Amino acid sequence: MDEVKRSAIGQFYKKTLAERQAIAAAWAQLSEADVQALSDSGLTPSQADLMIENVIGRYSLPFALATNFLINSRDYLAPMVIEEPSVVAACSYAAKLFRESGGFTASSDESVMIGQLQVLDLPDFENAGARLLARKQEILRAVNDSGGSIAARGGGALDLEARSFPATAIGDMLVVHLLYDTRDAMGANAINSALEAVAPLIKRMTGGRVNLRILSNLSDRRLARASGMIPAQALATDSATGEQVVDAIVEAAVFAEVDPYRAATHNKGIMNGIDAVMLATGNDWRAVEAGAHAYAARDGRYRSLTRWRKDEAGNLQGAIEVPLATGIVGGATRVHHGAKVALKLLGVQSARELAEVAAAVGLAQNFAAIRALATDGIQAGHMRLHARQLALAAGAIGADAQAVARQLIDEDCIRLERAKEIVNERKRET
Ligand code: MEV
Repeated sequence: MDEVKRSAIGQFYKKTLAERQAIAAAWAQLSEADVQALSDSGLTPSQADLMIENVIGRYSLPFALATNFLINSRDYLAPMVIEEPSVVAACSYAAKLFRESGGFTASSDESVMIGQLQVLDLPDFENAGARLLARKQEILRAVNDSGGSIAARGGGALDLEARSFPATAIGDMLVVHLLYDTRDAMGANAINSALEAVAPLIKRMTGGRVNLRILSNLSDRRLARASGMIPAQALATDSATGEQVVDAIVEAAVFAEVDPYRAATHNKGIMNGIDAVMLATGNDWRAVEAGAHAYAARDGRYRSLTRWRKDEAGNLQGAIEVPLATGIVGGATRVHHGAKVALKLLGVQSARELAEVAAAVGLAQNFAAIRALATDGIQAGHMRLHARQLALAAGAIGADAQAVARQLIDEDCIRLERAKEIVNERKRET
């Protein structure tokens, strides 16, 4: 039996970069080339040149691991690519608190994408949708017969829906939805090809004209969910009881349930986590962003994607539900060595499992942000990290950087000029 791996790696943040790489390599049996991909950009110049147009170089971001994740009783290290300080530390801290009470429970829908066909100039708009639906099996068979690697993997067209928009600015409009199981792929190419293949048939059947043929990023048939609990006593601070912190967090959450201005920021915090995992694994984070925000506004008002409540025992219960169109095959995951390493580190077996991890990371990230906001405020932590960055920018290294940062905080003067002075003073002293 495999040795059970624990993502609760003590003091991970205090280790050197090389030590962390060695831990990551042992965690996922990374090859030397994999480790090398972490140190360079994971993409050769010629791969970059083939990936998009007009390439003039490559662009790097930090690649980190959030520790402590326990999801459906399995340990994960969450790969995160992000430029913003505090996010990974906050996420790891949050995952630790959830872990202590059993971790996250997560689930996800099948990988069902929605593709849209816009049908116009219909001779019989009133009945066009019903007529198409009456021939649903014929249409689905035609899509599946058009081939594609996803059909070979057991995916393909599942269902058809028709939505009518009468008397729009461009006249009556029928929108046909093709529901398509993309299995372990994000599936944009598969669904767009299927739509283009079936469009002539829809045109013939309706006598109308097909304009757009494109997936919807509101992938609400592809939701991922995560939930977890933190005992009140684990939330006590120097100045507040655990119960007070639970109440303050629930107040913060309800703020985001009722006010779109707050919900936007609250959801941005969630996406700090989800996007970072998407970026690390080579997924289309803009698609996931678009889906998340559209889903947040599904009932006509933009709301938070999470829910936080106090349970009967006084503990904090949190849950998230978010569309997550993720892939572990195809796209950048095929080309980018860094993305391959991220997937190895996660060890996920399916796109659905990746979506479940990302949902848990989003929930953890959201908890960390609202806990900080509802207690000390986020600036204290940010300023500590900012001080360290200034110390590094002023030329301090290792333990010296920590000492310079601490002095900047103690003096309440977190400025580069002062950091440079302290570095010079310390040099003169030694
Ligand atoms: C900053 O990147 C994210 C937060 O603003 C999220 C929030 O306000 O909940 C801290």
